[in-house]
Amino acid sequence: MDENKRGSFGSTIGFLLSAIGSAVGLGNIWGFPYKMGRCGGFTFLIVYLALAAFVGFAIMLSELAIGRSTGFGPVNAYKKVSKKFKWIGWLAIIAPFLIMTFYSVLGGYCIYYMVINVVGMFSGMPDSSSFGALLTNPWASIGCMVLFMAICYLINRGGVGGGIEKFNTIGMPALFVMLVIVIIRAWTLPNADVGLKYMFVPGWAVANGVIEKAPSIFEVISTAGGQMFFSLSIAMGIMVTYGSYMKQRDSLTSSAIRVAGFDIGVSFLAGLMIVPAAFVALGSPEAVTENSGPGLMFIVLPQMFASFGDFAPVIGVLFFLLVIFAALTSAISLMETCVSIMHDGAKCSRKKATVITFVIIGVAAVFVNLGYNGLSFIEPLGAGTSLLDFFDFVSNTIMMPIVAFLTCIFVGWCIKPKIIEEEIMASSKFRWRAAWRIMIKYIAPILIAIVFISFLAQFLGFMTI
Ligand code: PFF
Repeated sequence: MDENKRGSFGSTIGFLLSAIGSAVGLGNIWGFPYKMGRCGGFTFLIVYLALAAFVGFAIMLSELAIGRSTGFGPVNAYKKVSKKFKWIGWLAIIAPFLIMTFYSVLGGYCIYYMVINVVGMFSGMPDSSSFGALLTNPWASIGCMVLFMAICYLINRGGVGGGIEKFNTIGMPALFVMLVIVIIRAWTLPNADVGLKYMFVPGWAVANGVIEKAPSIFEVISTAGGQMFFSLSIAMGIMVTYGSYMKQRDSLTSSAIRVAGFDIGVSFLAGLMIVPAAFVALGSPEAVTENSGPGLMFIVLPQMFASFGDFAPVIGVLFFLLVIFAALTSAISLMETCVSIMHDGAKCSRKKATVITFVIIGVAAVFVNLGYNGLSFIEPLGAGTSLLDFFDFVSNTIMMPIVAFLTCIFVGWCIKPKIIEEEIMASSKFRWRAAWRIMIKYIAPILIAIVFISFLAQFLGFMTI
């Protein structure tokens, strides 16, 4: 089976928009702000940026290069570079399956919120209690999840060239503009400055009693690490797959800089929007820290939008529509990887592989949905946790650091960085080649090991700092 027969991006901008579309999604708008809220604001921000610069970027560049040089998706790409390491490709593909099970649930929530904002144009607008109502209504949440997956299915069937590319050209810039509008509004509300100080002034939150004590450094590092892998869409074969669609003339370095830069930028904007909005909407710092879980965005935003007065429903609908676009472009990339794995692994037609993949993920997603109602007695990570938390945790905190670490060892020590450097230099100059080599061989693996050890330390509770 010749994977090279798969589509290729029509233009450099098409590839860029699609890779950005994959990276920018719910991880930025839903995940980043609540994780920053839970992990001490400023400290989290700094750790996150450092990890993105020293680990995320180096891995993204390597993955794109592996994909383009082989022209294959993860399993066959790793096999082609080195037969002995084919298993890294297999390991990399567990994460997209796990992620998609809860991503489609969250995508469904966004659809639900858009619908209730449309309804709000004629009757009552959603408020902070709407989220609880959704969680306890399996029919609504499963229905919206199925709708989200059905849209993904239709786009995925269109292939890479058509659906994904066109989708991003308008959606991404529009999302950016929307975020800026809501940020400006959030900042002009009373109490918003508290959220900004929380984000930007080191030590301010503890000194001013906003949080009782700083979160353990292990929690901050492991959460920031997992979030960084998830948000940049690395360590799970996606960038290898997208690299395989790149043309020889496309510069790998500037592509990686743009994708990572845009992704970090959107996360930052979402933080600037949600964190101050949380302090405005929830009133007390205690309420913010108590609510800084996965529901934060859905609880805080309706109140934020209400402050737009007569425009509230319009802003609500537009905002969630754009978030649904962002979620879809990420979900499409996840599905594309899952489908191509099924296609190669099960040696069946692409059409059949698409149907099988959607059915498997759809069934698992129903269970994740039920984790908030019928199956809420299952608390896999301790009291109050859900199946969604569990899948999020296993993919971000366990699978991705392991695959990222192995990727660094594979590129830096097994196949040697030279192969990747040559691929990068085939399309552009590589001025910081020496710096990248040090990152991939030493800095990134050491930092990833620290991320993983931090997780273990926190999980086993034997160290607190
Ligand atoms: N990066 C996407 C987000 O932040 O929402 C999610 C994602 C897409 C994760 C693709 C992993 C992936 F392979």
